[in-house]
Amino acid sequence: MSSPRAKKVAVVPGDGIGPEVIESALAVLEAARADFEAVPLEIGYGRWKKTGQALAEEDLETIKECRCVLFGAITTPPDPGYRSVLLLLRKELDLYANIRPFSGPKLDLVIVRENSEGLYSGIEELGEEESRTVRVITRKGSQRIAEKACDLALRRKKLTIVHKANVLKSDHLFLSTCRRTAEQRGLAHEEMLVDAAAYNLVVRPERFDVIVTTNLFGDILSDEAAGVIGSLGLCASANLGDKYALFEPIHGSAPDIAGLGVANPIGAIRSAAMMAEWLGLRQVAGRIAEAVARTLQQGIKTPDLGGSCSTREMTEAICKYLRS
Ligand code: NAD
Ligand code: IPM
Ligand code: MN
Repeated sequence: MSSPRAKKVAVVPGDGIGPEVIESALAVLEAARADFEAVPLEIGYGRWKKTGQALAEEDLETIKECRCVLFGAITTPPDPGYRSVLLLLRKELDLYANIRPFSGPKLDLVIVRENSEGLYSGIEELGEEESRTVRVITRKGSQRIAEKACDLALRRKKLTIVHKANVLKSDHLFLSTCRRTAEQRGLAHEEMLVDAAAYNLVVRPERFDVIVTTNLFGDILSDEAAGVIGSLGLCASANLGDKYALFEPIHGSAPDIAGLGVANPIGAIRSAAMMAEWLGLRQVAGRIAEAVARTLQQGIKTPDLGGSCSTREMTEAICKYLRS
């Protein structure tokens, strides 16, 4: 018998364009006849402004009763008193691997970002004259992300370990752990300093296949890779742990275009496809990927891609392909 949480997906639209792109993702999942039960949750900055609480303890319980989370985007104001809900969920659900695929004419890359430590340790001291953030690299954290990246690279071509061990001595543990894991698996790999990687991603993007890197470097290189393929609005991600998972576009709440109905929904739709794959709905995932590719080929594009379609028009085109 399957467990009660087998089909439950917590759906968190969030703030800004989050609800707009999640509405699209849900419409596409329905058109692809994905079999799951959505459990909607209001979490994020909007909720914090209304109630003083971005996420309640009960929400966390509800999420833990679901198999995974489909997440839009949240606004994280740079206010030292406000704790990011997304970071809290990554921590509470131990979502240590952030998998971010990018594919375009010049780039076919997956960034495997360590998602639980590094400069996101949360260990900070804030003062009037001096502030500190502690960068934590552990053997366990490095080992588990190295294994995820090697598993993936073995099914693809090669692994690039991106680090800054020339300056950040804490990166020696990350680098040596990734290197040893790749060697033990007989995997072709190279090592690259993060500044050089940022440069190469623009001038020679085709040389990359799988990148494994620490938390902040992975965050920054992800948006750069999104720029190389044309728009942040196209890119999806999976945050994976051993028990839970959270799927989200890599973009944020985009306050500059929120409410205009022009957000590109493809990042959220592709995140829904990654979720379907993870839930074992392989056919659904494949059909969504194909519907997105065909719709783009037909020139149906939102303004970020140089087109003039609205979020709804693009979503409807993808749904129509799935229903045909
Ligand atoms: P952003 O990713 O929201 O936007 C950056 C630029 O990309 C903007 O010009 C925006 O209009 C554009 N863009 C993003 N998504 C798009 C889409 N789907 N279609 C078309 N254009 C799109 O980054 P930001 O403006 O620096 O951050 C806004 C807020 O979002 C901040 O509070 C930040 O902390 C938060 N944020 C949240 C997440 C998340 O929830 N996963 C991720 C990144 C940033
Ligand atoms: C991302 C975002 C988050 C991060 C923020 C919103 C906490 O930029 O998922 O890429 O820095 O990880
Ligand atoms: Mn980011």
